[in-house]
Amino acid sequence: MATALCPGSFDPVTLGHLDIIERTARHFDEVIVAVIRNPQKAESLFTLEERQDMLREVTAHLSNVTIEFFKGLLVDFAKEQDAQAIVKGLRAVSDFDYELQMAQMNQQLSGIDTFFISTSPTYSFLSSSLVREVARFGGDVSPMVPPVVAKRLADRFHGGAR
Ligand code: PNS
Repeated sequence: MATALCPGSFDPVTLGHLDIIERTARHFDEVIVAVIRNPQKAESLFTLEERQDMLREVTAHLSNVTIEFFKGLLVDFAKEQDAQAIVKGLRAVSDFDYELQMAQMNQQLSGIDTFFISTSPTYSFLSSSLVREVARFGGDVSPMVPPVVAKRLADRFHGGAR
C-alpha cells in the first residue's frame, strides 16, 4: 500500500493545492495532507484548526485523503506515518531551486523520495501569500480558492461584508 504526503502551510489552501492533492490521490492508495504546525514564515493568518477545517471541507470528496498536523522534520513524520513518498507541486522554474534542495536533503536524511507534479497552468501564479494579500485589500479571490476559503477570508478581513 503506497502512502504519499502532501506537505505545506496551507494558510490558506488554494485551488492550486487542491489540484495537486486531487492528482496525488489518483496515483497513491493513501494521501496525507501534512500541515506544518509552526511555519518558519511570519505569523499565520489562520490557526492550525482553521487550516485543517478548510482542508477537510475541500477534500471531503476524496476518500483516500486525510489531514494531519506535524512539527519538526517532515521525514520524521513520513516515517511515523509509514509514508513512502512526498509529493510537491512545481509552479515555475523559480520553485525549482529550493524544492530540489529540500528533496535532496530529505532523500539524504531518510531515503524518502519526492515526486513533483507540474502545477496546472491555470494556477501557476497562485500562492497562499498572494491570496492573503489580495483578500486583505478587497480583491476578488473567488477564482483562486474554494468558496469556503473565500468566505473565511472575507470574514477575517472584512467581517463577512463581501
Ligand atoms: O507551504 P510551504 O510553506 O511552502 O511548505 C513548506 C514545508 C512545510 C513543506 C517545508 O517547510 C517543510 O517540509 N518543513 C518541515 C521541516 C523540515 O523537514 N525541514 C527540512 C526540509 S529539507
